[in-house]
Amino acid sequence: MRYSAFVITGIVAAASLAFTLNQASSVRADDGAVAYPDGYRNWTFLHSSLVPAGAQGFSKSPCVKPCTNGIFYFYGNELAMKGLRSGTYADGAVIAEELLEFRVGEKGNGGEGRRVLTAVMVKDSQRYAATGGWGFGKFDEGSKVNTLDAKAQQGCFQCHIPRKANGYVFTKYDER
Ligand code: HEC
Repeated sequence: MRYSAFVITGIVAAASLAFTLNQASSVRADDGAVAYPDGYRNWTFLHSSLVPAGAQGFSKSPCVKPCTNGIFYFYGNELAMKGLRSGTYADGAVIAEELLEFRVGEKGNGGEGRRVLTAVMVKDSQRYAATGGWGFGKFDEGSKVNTLDAKAQQGCFQCHIPRKANGYVFTKYDER
């Protein structure tokens, strides 16, 4: 009786280990699967950052962004807006940023050049538990495939850690 209980326990344990491994491998395969923020240009515009050519310190390690000059625009979806106002981000909150080149016209006019990339922070506390509940993504122009592996996402997260008290978000939304 005891023996069969032991065997049954063993089978259950093996089955649950197999289940865990299956789960683990599906989580692993999913590591880079932070989705492209479709439609982000219809979200709330948060702010922009202009990075002049040769800005000091911007290209310092461990900056894994293409830390280049250009124009950054930031956008938040509805849940991100709730988070920016309350300081707490629900799963589903997404903040997107896009980098555009500076383009100076012949007469010195102009400004926006082509979009170089889109980056994103997607809140899912369980899926992205290893990076503060945020999935980090980066998409080269013309592609909707996240180029960041788990290590690169960790690199993004490390720099956002000082903003822990603000849900790891730097942006402060200015109501006006
Ligand atoms: C060197 C530090 C640093 C690293 C590395 C870094 N970030 Fe950030 N991130 C910032 C700062 C600072 C801001 C605010 C920029 C601004 O307001 O102009 C920011 C803002 C953002 C935002 C807008 C939300 C917010 O927090 O304001 C997103 C999305 C974002 N980063 C994604 C990423 C991704 C994806 C990576 C990795 C590829 C990354 N970040 C790596 C410093 C960093």
